[in-house]
Amino acid sequence: MPARLPLILILFYAFPAFAQNPPEPIVPPLMPQPDRMSVTAGAMPLTQSFAASLTGYTEPRLQRAVDRLYARITAQTGIPLEYGTRVPDHPALVIHTGRASEKVQKLGEDESYRLDVTTQGARLEAPTPLGVLHGLETFLQLVTSTQQGYVVPAVTIEDKPRFPWRGMLLDVCRHWMPKEVVLRTLDGMAAVKMNVLHWHLSEYQGFRVESRKFPRLQGMGSDGLYYTQNEVREVVDYARDRGIRVIPEFDMPGHATAWFVGYPQLASGPGPYHIERTWGVFDAAMDPTRDSTYKFLDTFIGEMAKLFPDDYFHIGGDEVSGKQWRENEKIQVFMRRHHLKDNPALQAYFNQRLQKIVRKHNRIMVGWDEILHPDLPKDVVVQSWRGQQSLAQAARDGYRGLLSFGYYLDLAQHADMHYAIDPLGGAAATLNPEQQARILGGESCMWAEWISDETVDSRIWPRNAAIAERLWSPAGVTDLNSMYQRLEAQSARLETAGLTHIAGYRPMLERIGGVNSWREMKILSDAVEPVKGYKRRLDHDQRKPLNRLVDAARPESLSARRFNRTVDAFIAAPENSTERKQAAEEVTGKLNEWLALPETLKPAFENSPMGAEAAGVAAALASLAQAARSAMQAIGAQQPVTAEWKAQQLDNLKKLSTDPNAEVVIAVAPGIQKLIEAVPYK
Ligand code: ACM
Repeated sequence: MPARLPLILILFYAFPAFAQNPPEPIVPPLMPQPDRMSVTAGAMPLTQSFAASLTGYTEPRLQRAVDRLYARITAQTGIPLEYGTRVPDHPALVIHTGRASEKVQKLGEDESYRLDVTTQGARLEAPTPLGVLHGLETFLQLVTSTQQGYVVPAVTIEDKPRFPWRGMLLDVCRHWMPKEVVLRTLDGMAAVKMNVLHWHLSEYQGFRVESRKFPRLQGMGSDGLYYTQNEVREVVDYARDRGIRVIPEFDMPGHATAWFVGYPQLASGPGPYHIERTWGVFDAAMDPTRDSTYKFLDTFIGEMAKLFPDDYFHIGGDEVSGKQWRENEKIQVFMRRHHLKDNPALQAYFNQRLQKIVRKHNRIMVGWDEILHPDLPKDVVVQSWRGQQSLAQAARDGYRGLLSFGYYLDLAQHADMHYAIDPLGGAAATLNPEQQARILGGESCMWAEWISDETVDSRIWPRNAAIAERLWSPAGVTDLNSMYQRLEAQSARLETAGLTHIAGYRPMLERIGGVNSWREMKILSDAVEPVKGYKRRLDHDQRKPLNRLVDAARPESLSARRFNRTVDAFIAAPENSTERKQAAEEVTGKLNEWLALPETLKPAFENSPMGAEAAGVAAALASLAQAARSAMQAIGAQQPVTAEWKAQQLDNLKKLSTDPNAEVVIAVAPGIQKLIEAVPYK
C-alpha cells in the first residue's frame, strides 16, 4: 500500500476535478487510480505546438502509439497539432523506453511507468513499451479543460498493476460481434489498462473462427458469421499494439453444439445437430472415449495455436450436463473399463488428454473451475465463475487462478457491487502469501445472450472500468464516491476514444418512441434498468432483435443513482438548510418530469407497438412519482400521515418497482422508498 494514497484522497475532496484557478493543484479523475500519485500546483499548457519524442529503445509500435496519442488529443480537445509527426527540438512530452518487451506479450511482464509533469513539460519513462502504453493512457486522462484552455496538471505518478492478469471475456457466439466491435472493445480495455482479451469463440449457438483444417466448423456452425484467419491476425496485432494479450476459448466438451453441425462424429449422441438458437445448458457433449476425438482436437488446436500466439489457451470445461454420456452405452462401458466412476471423472479423463495436446502445441491450458481435479498438472490455470471458494481451493491445491465470479457484466448489476469483489477477498483472504501469489487477477465477463452488437458497448462501459480498477489499483482504493465520480469522467473519455455506449442510446430511444420523443424517452429510460441477474426471459432466441426499452436502458443508470443520492442528501440535511432546499428542488424537478411522461409520451406510444410496454413503465413511474411528491409535501409541511397511508404507498412501490413484462426495474424506486419512509406519521 503506498503511503501517499490517503493524501491523494484528501486532495481529491479538497479540490474539485475542474478547478478553475491554477496554481491550485488540479486533481484529474484518473481511472484506474495509479499506484502512487502526488499532485503539485500548476499545469503544463496543452497547445497546438504539443509533440512527443521517443528516446531510448524504440520500435514501430511505439510510434503508432504516439500517433494515436496525437489523434486522440485532437479529438478530445479540438486542437490541431501543428507538428504532426515531426518532432520539435523541445517536445512537450519526452517518452523514454528502457528495452523491448517480449515478442509475444507474456504474463507478468513489467508494465510499470513513471510520469512527471511540470509546468515546463512532461516525461514518461518505462522499462518496456507496455509501461509506455499505459502511461500514455494516463497522460490522456490528465488532459483537463480550464478557463485558461487545456492543460496537463503537474503530477508525479509512479504506477504499476496490482495483478498481472486483468482481462475481459467477450462472448461473440450467442450474438455475433463483428470485428469492429472487438477492435473498439480493445481500445476501451487499453484505456482502463486491461491486458487480456478472453475471446469466447465457440458455443452451442455458433462457431466463430475460420478453420482451414475443418472448414465445416464455421461453414455449418456459424450462419456465415465468423472471423477469417486474417481478421483474427488483425485483432491479435491490434491488441498487441495496445498491450493486450488475446486468449481464445474453445469451449469443450460441453457448450459445443456448433462444432457438431458439421462434425457430428465428435459428439456423444446420434444427432443430427443444428445451431442452438435459444439459451441454456444443453446436453450435446464431445465423446471423450474415442481416439478420433483427440486426433481431431490435436489438428484443430495445432491450427489455432498458429493463429493465437499467446502462451495460454482456454478450453472452457464448464457446465457439462452429462446426459449424453449417461445415455451412450459405449461410453458407459468405457467408463467401467477405465474405473471412471462418474461424469466428472470422465471429464477429468478428457481434460488430462486435452491438456497433453495443448501442451504439445506449447500452450498452457486454462479452464473454468469445473476442471479443477488433482490429476491435472499444476501449470493449468483455473478460472472461477461459480464462487470465490473454487479460486481459493485452486490456489491451495497449487494451481494458479483467475476470478470471474462477481464480475459478470451480463447480469446488469451496479459498478459498486463488482468493485467490492476482490480477487484476494472472500475465501482467498485466508490463503497464505504463497497461495495468494497464485491468484493472477481476474476477468470481467460479457456473455452475449442478451446483448447485440448495438447494445454491447453500453453493457460493458462504463462499468467495466470499475472492475479494471479493482484489478490494477492498490487494494485500499475502495472509496465509492471517488469511484463513481471518476467512472463518469472515464465514461465520457471512453466515448471520445471510439466506444458508442453514449452515442448508441439515442437511436434506440428514437426507434421506440419516434424521432421527436427521444428526450422524453430518455427521461423514462434513465429512470429504469434491466432486471438483474438471470431474470430476463423474453427474447430467448438468437434471432430476435434486442431493441426494447430494457435494451436501451442502462445496466446501471448513473442518473438514477444521482437521484437516489440526492434523496439521501435531502433527508440527511438539516431542516431549512441551503443543502436541503437545493436537494428538495432537484428531487421535485425529477418527480415533475416523471409525472408528465404518460401525457407527453402518449402520442409516441400510440403509434408504436414497441412503445406499448414502455407506456406501462411510464405509468408506473408516474404513479411512484405521485407518491413521492405527496411524501415531499408531507415532509415539508411536517404534516403526519397515517400508518396505513404509508404502508399502502410502500406496498404499491414494491408492486410497481419491477415490471416483469417490460423486464425492467424502476431504478429510482429506492430513493422514492426513502422519501415515503421519511414522512412523519401518527
Ligand atoms: C460460465 O458462466 N458457464 C462459465
